[in-house]
Amino acid sequence: MEPFSRHRRLRKNPVMRDLVRETHVSIDDMIQPLFVKEGIDQKQEVPSMPGVYQFPLTAIVEEVRECVQLGIKAFILFGIPEKKDEQGSQASAEKGIVQQAISLIKTAYPDIIVIADTCLCEFTSHGHCGILKGEVVDNDLSLKRLVKVAVSQARAGADIIAPSNAMDGYVYAIRKGLDEAGFQDIPIMSYAIKFASSFYGPFRDAGESAPAFGDRKTYQMDVANRLEALREAKSDEEEGADFLMVKPALAFLDILRDVRNQTQLPLVAYNVSGEYAMIKAAAQNGWIDEQSLVLETLIGMKRAGADLIISYFAKDVAAYLSEKGV
Ligand code: PBG
Repeated sequence: MEPFSRHRRLRKNPVMRDLVRETHVSIDDMIQPLFVKEGIDQKQEVPSMPGVYQFPLTAIVEEVRECVQLGIKAFILFGIPEKKDEQGSQASAEKGIVQQAISLIKTAYPDIIVIADTCLCEFTSHGHCGILKGEVVDNDLSLKRLVKVAVSQARAGADIIAPSNAMDGYVYAIRKGLDEAGFQDIPIMSYAIKFASSFYGPFRDAGESAPAFGDRKTYQMDVANRLEALREAKSDEEEGADFLMVKPALAFLDILRDVRNQTQLPLVAYNVSGEYAMIKAAAQNGWIDEQSLVLETLIGMKRAGADLIISYFAKDVAAYLSEKGV
């Protein structure tokens, strides 16, 4: 008997390491975000997110085609309208940018999954995620609008509704609204645990959705809170959510694990814009190895308990994995 454990026996070579690997990143459980913008005729790179673009409607199916060829099967859509107003009217318009994009993509690729982000911040003139009463985002007025948005997205052909607006009771309200409109079979992927995070900075460039005044701290969660995250997960599950999400991911891996231990629902990690931007910036400076760092962070999310990952790296990962099984 050895006086100590020889852990290195199982690290002998790549094949041995593959045999005992506990966690895997697979393109089957990755979701690629896409930004679609009205009033442009060429794709435009987001300066703070190298490699991420706002696409015109005319280029969106081509982008989906490239991703599908690499093996990506699920997308989450964000829209930037030409006209913004107080109510975010374009978010629920029949010919709104997101509705049109959904129907184009689903016509070209009926079997891929299109997820609609349900929020108002890209559509309102004030950049908040709901309806204002004075300078306060009114919860219940916002719910009424958000139900209309969700139903219009389902009507356009969305496969999953993903509310990210952080109002209370949105899962219940949207479930009821979808059911009444005949969409009983459309699941809700709830951004159940959404922290008021500085990691969203680059997204607000991409989505042109920064709040015109104040911040989102009266509706998104305090980054310091863990028990509150568990309450958010519980109430959304009780209201009928089909998936729960934790967002951001990297600074909140403990929360992912805690929620994993509390729920049997599929759990989604959102590898957000700031997490993407940090890796891209460091890689562009030659300070880190991008590919191995991307895989390491995504594996961390899986190990923490995520079943699915929304990531701006999905397309890159699909390309790496098609070269080499990981
Ligand atoms: C909309 C929304 C946001 C993100 C996803 N949906 C931004 C926000 O809350 O300001 C952020 C995603 C990211 O940073 O990648 N409310």
